[in-house]
Amino acid sequence: MAESMKGLRRSHRCTELSNRNIGETVTVMGWVQKSRNKGGIIFVDLRDRSGILQIIFEESDVGSEGFEKAEHIRSEYVIAVVGKVEARSGAVNKDLKTGDIEIRANELRILSEADTPPFPVEEDSKTKEDLRLKYRYLDLRRPDLQRNLMLRSKVANITRSFLTEEGFLEIETPMLTKSTPEGARDYLVPSRVHPGNFYALPQSPQLFKQLLMCAGYDRYFQLAKCFRDEDLRADRQPEFTQIDMELSFVDVDDVIDVNERLLQKMFKESIGIDIELPIQRMTYAEAMDRFGSDKPDIRFGLELVNVSEQVKDCGFGVFTSALEKGGSVRGINAEGQAAMPRKKIDALIDYVKDFGAKGLAYLAINEDGSYKSSFAKFMTEDQLDGLVKAMNGKAGDLLFFAADEDEIVFAVLGNLRLELARNLELLDKDDYKFLWVTEFPLLEYSEEDKRFVAKHHPFTMPMDEDLHLLDTDPGKVRAKAYDIVLNGTEIGGGSVRIYQSEIQEKMFEVLGFTKEAAYERFGFLLNAFKLGVPPHAGLAYGLDRLIMLMAKEDSIRDVIAFPKVKDASCLMTEAPNTVDDKQLKELGIEVKKR
Ligand code: AMO
Ligand code: AMP
Repeated sequence: MAESMKGLRRSHRCTELSNRNIGETVTVMGWVQKSRNKGGIIFVDLRDRSGILQIIFEESDVGSEGFEKAEHIRSEYVIAVVGKVEARSGAVNKDLKTGDIEIRANELRILSEADTPPFPVEEDSKTKEDLRLKYRYLDLRRPDLQRNLMLRSKVANITRSFLTEEGFLEIETPMLTKSTPEGARDYLVPSRVHPGNFYALPQSPQLFKQLLMCAGYDRYFQLAKCFRDEDLRADRQPEFTQIDMELSFVDVDDVIDVNERLLQKMFKESIGIDIELPIQRMTYAEAMDRFGSDKPDIRFGLELVNVSEQVKDCGFGVFTSALEKGGSVRGINAEGQAAMPRKKIDALIDYVKDFGAKGLAYLAINEDGSYKSSFAKFMTEDQLDGLVKAMNGKAGDLLFFAADEDEIVFAVLGNLRLELARNLELLDKDDYKFLWVTEFPLLEYSEEDKRFVAKHHPFTMPMDEDLHLLDTDPGKVRAKAYDIVLNGTEIGGGSVRIYQSEIQEKMFEVLGFTKEAAYERFGFLLNAFKLGVPPHAGLAYGLDRLIMLMAKEDSIRDVIAFPKVKDASCLMTEAPNTVDDKQLKELGIEVKKR
């Protein structure tokens, strides 16, 4: 039976008490982590979001009725206890913040009983995630998840106070809106008042924040919910949160400057990590060339080496035919790995096939300097020596090579590099390595649509020196776009925006939009530009990804209170779900039976 807490008022959270409170009478409330009856004395670990506190019940203190009640206490009961803080009578528990004290109870109230929980509430749960997500409110009682959400709240607060001090205004933008141009599929919301018409949930506040600049708000930020209907991965959710910002009268360096200081403050004040400024910058071209990725993890080496020059005249058809087709041959030196067993090498070859590899050539340099290789027989001694030298190979090293068109070589070796780092345990979660990747290509060619599409979004400004290429060689145009990368994860990205209508119209032309089509989709923005637009630029972080890395978690589900699973459903509420026929009728929607 649930008792009332009438007349009681919580005086402390569990771990707000310490040996400084010894002798005080306090009132604590929380959940029962566990209870042990040692005959005549009952020990209860009481838990709240601050941690755990030991309570002891003895009949002489709580009376026979109180003691009987205490005997009934089970895990996850919610109780209130009034008692006296004492030094621990038993051994001090060094693992607990309150390990040197306990509360001697003289009053107990059971505020809520609890069924036997489907899994224990414990740190590093071994319970399958699906079950935990079904009972997320129970899962969220676990200390690791509580820590993550507290960290998230702290980071949000630091962000708000920093940006406010820097002159940013927090402004909300609509959730029911028109399709935004971030390139994923939209979530649609049917309109009842306009049957057959739909709102789109925003993929980002992009257009609205640009309009706020047109409206003179100068510096805007928002912790904005964004919605993207795309395939989920460990670092992707259908709804996620951005720290979104936009600034007027600025260029790339201004955006980078304020964001470096934001990151520095955020990391120092939330997890005690010092970020040295300025953060390293690297162009997209260099990132691809050295790491085969536009979001390189620079915590470790294993850099790519272009050996096209060294192999161009060799007799190995795999290499020379790739070069003849305009591709390249590049390698990675896995230092000291010459003894890697064949089985492991085969597993790596198998792994890179997912990224388009037709194969992976390798060469091991034995301790005696001889070579063991899948392709040595096609090359002269001199050619092999030249190749090994270019790779900086020495006795004990294992070299991997991929030959193909550049795009595939980068994907294959970029991912091989990461897989090697995982296998060799080179990824230290305590090491935070930031990198700005700059000068992204403005456009990329879509084979599917047979046209250029915007790599970031269609409002991104080309680099001044590449503007003339928009007509002649659009694929070569670099953009004033930048990403902030942390340990190989893109935590944020942004760009300087186009604000001149001639450039914007040219951009739409290159993207294959007619003027009419451009106005139909983005007319409100283009019209706004005609009424006085300041030069502006911005950036958005994925807050969930940021917290995931700060909390050293492998999945963003662990830093979101109520996340969705791979098929975009919520296991707790069972959303998405069917709706009443009446609701559908009102919306003028008929659902085809599947
Ligand atoms: P972009 O599309 O790069 O830029 O998104 C910004 C950041 O949001 C995070 N992110 C995601 N996080 C979780 N789940 C997802 N599905 C997901 N998609 C993106 C990433 C990414 O770096 N409007 C522009 C920003 C700008 O130009 O100012 C934008 O949305 O960490
Ligand atoms: P094959 O001629 O297909 O028997 O391949 C000979 C060797 O070259 C094998 O070790 C393959 O794994 C490797 N190989 C095949 N295609 C490529 C490629 N595109 N890049 C690098 N190595 C490859």
